[in-house]
Amino acid sequence: MSYSRLIGTGSYLPKRVLTNAALESLVDTNEQWIIERTGIRTRHLAAEDQDTCDLAEQAARRALDMAQCDVSEIDLIILATTTPDRIFPSTACLLQARLGNHGAMAFDVQAVCSGFIYALSIADQFIKTGTVQRALVVGADIFSRLINWSDRNTCVLFGDGSGAVVLEASRTPGILSSHLHADGAYKELLTAPAKVVQGGLNGDAFTKMQGNEVFKFAVKALSKVVDEALIANQLDMSAIDWLVPHQANIRIITATAKKLKLPMEKVVVTVSEHGNTSAASVPLALDVAVRDGRIQRGDLLLLEAVGGGFTWGAVLLKY
Ligand code: UT7
Repeated sequence: MSYSRLIGTGSYLPKRVLTNAALESLVDTNEQWIIERTGIRTRHLAAEDQDTCDLAEQAARRALDMAQCDVSEIDLIILATTTPDRIFPSTACLLQARLGNHGAMAFDVQAVCSGFIYALSIADQFIKTGTVQRALVVGADIFSRLINWSDRNTCVLFGDGSGAVVLEASRTPGILSSHLHADGAYKELLTAPAKVVQGGLNGDAFTKMQGNEVFKFAVKALSKVVDEALIANQLDMSAIDWLVPHQANIRIITATAKKLKLPMEKVVVTVSEHGNTSAASVPLALDVAVRDGRIQRGDLLLLEAVGGGFTWGAVLLKY
């Protein structure tokens, strides 16, 4: 049985930047509140003519470049998104066509902000069993299109972006374990409840969130799933070189690190520059820390995320 080794990472943020000061003119908020409660200073917004596949393509090409991998060598494409370009085909298939790959397995995963963790784990199962040699795993979202820009509870939090990794079958680790969970009993706490009926939307397609409840659940679930990953590998938190958390809110990140007794110097934080980019947030943070040299070959990484559903999970890997 082989391991899945990360051989390339990539990410992309759209050009347009929305500052906290600009949000002050949209809703009853202020820069100080946003920074203190969320740690977010700016978020990036996709242009009107950009779709999720456009964002995904940029991150995917950068990851393939770093991996020195031709797209024809990819035999699995998984794209995590909550904002697909079409009802069908999947955005993974649209990305496949854009990149010029023919014949690889391709599908989307919908687990909101945990989507990339889910997708990474699924790709790992295919590689471990020998079905797949090389996989492209992407998290991409244009969450700004699910935001009511007059709702201050949500509009200050989210941004658009994408991140990607290329995985390759290898005799050396690699992904050590992944731990996925969901509990649909919490479906109303974070949701965009509309459905498609007779060619139109029925219900409200804007994101609704009970922020406080999400916050409490997130800190509890994330520290528990991180513990679960450590116990499964008989490791102590001190063995971890880098925690790469879902970038939703700096207070969730610091509260989780505190619960785990992990110094913040070992936590990759990018939320202040791009806010919560949903499925893109973990691979974005990963790519930033790989490219700026913080994450080195041989480092032990713990990736974690929580999102609507609720869904949550962690992946432990040797880089
Ligand atoms: O991937 C998972 C996605 N979601 C999340 O991770 C979100 C998790 N939750 C959070 O990040 C936090 O709960 C928030 C940042 C959303 C809110 O922070 P909080 O410390 O939980 O604030 P709160 O909801 O308890 O609200 C405190 C006050 C309220 O006013 P009153 O009732 O005390 O007068 C809110 O109405 O802050 C008010 N408020 C705002 N004020 C200025 C809420 N949003 C804003 C805003 N600007 N944008």
